[in-house]
Amino acid sequence: MFEIIRKEEMAEGTIVQFDISAPKIAAKVLPGQFIILRLHEKGERIPLTVADADPINGIITLIIQVVGKTTAQMKALNEGEFIKDIVGPLGKQAHCEKKNGIVIIVAGGTGIAISHHVAKGMKKTGNYVIGIIGARTKDMLILEDEMRALCDELIITTDDGSYGEKGFVTMPLERILNDRDDVAEAYAIGPIVMMRNVLKVTNPKGVHTMVSLNPVMIDGTGMCGGCRITVGGEMKFACVDGPDFDGSKVDFDELLNRNSRYLKEEKDSLLFSVKKV
Ligand SMILES: Cc1cc2nc3c(=O)[nH]c(=O)nc-3n(C[C@H](O)[C@H](O)[C@H](O)COP(=O)(O)OP(=O)(O)OC[C@H]3O[C@@H](n4cnc5c(N)ncnc54)[C@H](O)[C@@H]3O)c2cc1C
Ligand code: FES
Repeated sequence: MFEIIRKEEMAEGTIVQFDISAPKIAAKVLPGQFIILRLHEKGERIPLTVADADPINGIITLIIQVVGKTTAQMKALNEGEFIKDIVGPLGKQAHCEKKNGIVIIVAGGTGIAISHHVAKGMKKTGNYVIGIIGARTKDMLILEDEMRALCDELIITTDDGSYGEKGFVTMPLERILNDRDDVAEAYAIGPIVMMRNVLKVTNPKGVHTMVSLNPVMIDGTGMCGGCRITVGGEMKFACVDGPDFDGSKVDFDELLNRNSRYLKEEKDSLLFSVKKV
């Protein structure tokens, strides 16, 4: 059992941060890695990235976007309550070694939560980091202060122009790539369509681009095949081979297709759980 030490609602309650007591995971987890949790005995297993870790106090931070049944049930939990199981850390760590040039981290929506740990890792190894974080609107933007503290430069975009630059994260990215030739790597984390659009900007410039993928995962250990993706024409399992991959090699169409396969069941499951309450 894992105790919720702190809970904070962000983005009008659609995104929620949990600090959870998990000393063994906090001691081992590295940027880019994730956990799989089960809220209760009959709960489904869902993967969540560890957004931050405090090994001294044995705390991990998870940031969830409420999108369906399990994330809605998790939002209803409060400080002092417990999560039944948390397995991890899982997956490979992000490649945060010192690069031969600047690093641009491009993150959208809850992807900002995932990018936070990676930005921390990139800074720790001495990289110059430019962060570009985007949200639909000002109220949906998360972790601005935390990202500002980590990045050497931070650019904010909102789709509706309510804060920062109006438009998508790809606009400032394109501008930076046009202006400077010392970009070693881009790291894109967010909705699949956003990551694919980042590649459309970085590929023509020959900028190596890592993406953090989020296929449906069940066991998280390479056994079930649920997270199968195609990278460079080869079959990979995102849970053990990733979740980070060279974006230029990822078959995004297949990923989009596989991720939307259970939409009806997910909708029914949410409706059923609401009716039961
Ligand atoms: C490696 C990884 C890291 C992730 N990190 C985060 C994070 O830090 N914060 C966050 O909010 N979300 C994260 N996600 C997505 C998160 O797992 C889903 O939002 C969650 O499973 C939704 O469950 P639900 O029951 O609330 O919604 P559902 O209604 O069941 O599903 C809504 C959508 O969530 C996705 N999803 C559903 N079940 C799974 C599953 N078992 N595995 C993966 N995706 C699923 C699908 O795209 C689905 O369409 C991550 C996913 C992966 C693969
Ligand atoms: S989640 Fe089962 S193989 Fe990756």
